[in-house]
Amino acid sequence: MVGLGRMGSNMVRRLMRAGVRCAVHDRSRDSVAALVREGALDAGSPAGFLKSLAKPRHVWLMVPAAVTDAALDELAQSLEPGDTLIDGGNSHYQDDLGRAERLAKRGVRYVDCGVSGGVFGLERGYCLMIGGDADVVARLEPVFMALAPGKAAASPTPGRASKGTADQGWLHCGPHGAGHFVKMVHNAIEYGLMAAYAEGFNLLHHAGAGRDARAVDAETAPFRHPEFYRYDFDVAEIAELWRRGSVIPSWLLDLTASALAGHKDLAKFSGQVADSGEGRWALAAANDLGVPVHVLAASLFGRFASRGESEFQDRVLSALREQFGGHAEKTTA
Ligand SMILES: NC(=O)c1ccc[n+]([C@@H]2O[C@H](COP(=O)([O-])OP(=O)(O)OC[C@H]3O[C@@H](n4cnc5c(N)ncnc54)[C@H](OP(=O)(O)O)[C@@H]3O)[C@@H](O)[C@H]2O)c1
Repeated sequence: MVGLGRMGSNMVRRLMRAGVRCAVHDRSRDSVAALVREGALDAGSPAGFLKSLAKPRHVWLMVPAAVTDAALDELAQSLEPGDTLIDGGNSHYQDDLGRAERLAKRGVRYVDCGVSGGVFGLERGYCLMIGGDADVVARLEPVFMALAPGKAAASPTPGRASKGTADQGWLHCGPHGAGHFVKMVHNAIEYGLMAAYAEGFNLLHHAGAGRDARAVDAETAPFRHPEFYRYDFDVAEIAELWRRGSVIPSWLLDLTASALAGHKDLAKFSGQVADSGEGRWALAAANDLGVPVHVLAASLFGRFASRGESEFQDRVLSALREQFGGHAEKTTA
């Protein structure tokens, strides 16, 4: 394993628990030392994998997408024909095609693997979306089985006839790039689901606005029925409630309930929501394919706006209203 951050470290731990021997490398010696204490071998350097692993070697990268290419190329210098590089980071699926071709010239095999599970993966297991050649994927089966959540993570689907591995929590999705393509779409769905929960809880959060006095002037939309909006909802308790027997439970709802428990106002967060690329790539793929992705677009643009990227356009709106109607801006602060 190369890259012993939040993901890589716990993946090594889960692999070792299942009896898979691991050699590790990271630019941080502390991260290496922590795993060596738990039984991993210290590869020492990218070249160290040549000595510390038996042939054919399998080296898994768990680094930020922006540094994956450089790390892959450095590692490839240290590997031999028949060895395999696996990128488990959130890379753009289109990069996988060029990487596979480049590595094939040295006889090094390549597998792209979208990994879902976050910091809870150590205990819950990691959902694995895999792209590459079938023979290498088959060779890696013990590794995928060790990392994946396993059959017990969900009840059997009635009517499912397939004997495939999906019900173990890992799947060979297709050729190079297929794993990261599926992960990209998984994250696009995640954006939408998160936005839907966030929006719903925000609506509940504002449902008491009828109790407050509202300005009566030409700049303020009339509040026709303030008496309909006099609720003081306990959002934490509603999140807890919906986890049981409603039609919208999910792990994301569990996490929402956990975040709200005791911290209903979420005051420690600024609300500036980052995005690490998959949503943009999914939107671009949808554009290329002419496929509508309304929910993804709205949730991705919501994240941009949360970071202040709509500030200038909002000023343009205010400037226009001032020009054509003499409307002065009302500030809420
Ligand atoms: N966190 C998640 O929930 C999650 C879920 C699925 C997939 N992923 C993907 O998995 C990958 C790793 O994520 P993470 O959350 O584990 O990130 P992380 O905690 O930030 O760890 C990143 C690792 O990469 C190393 N690294 C960073 N920059 C480097 C560079 N320039 N050269 C060499 N090594 C470098 C870091 O080394 P240092 O320790 O020295 O900084 C660290 O070991 C990313 O591609 C991410 O998108 C993350």
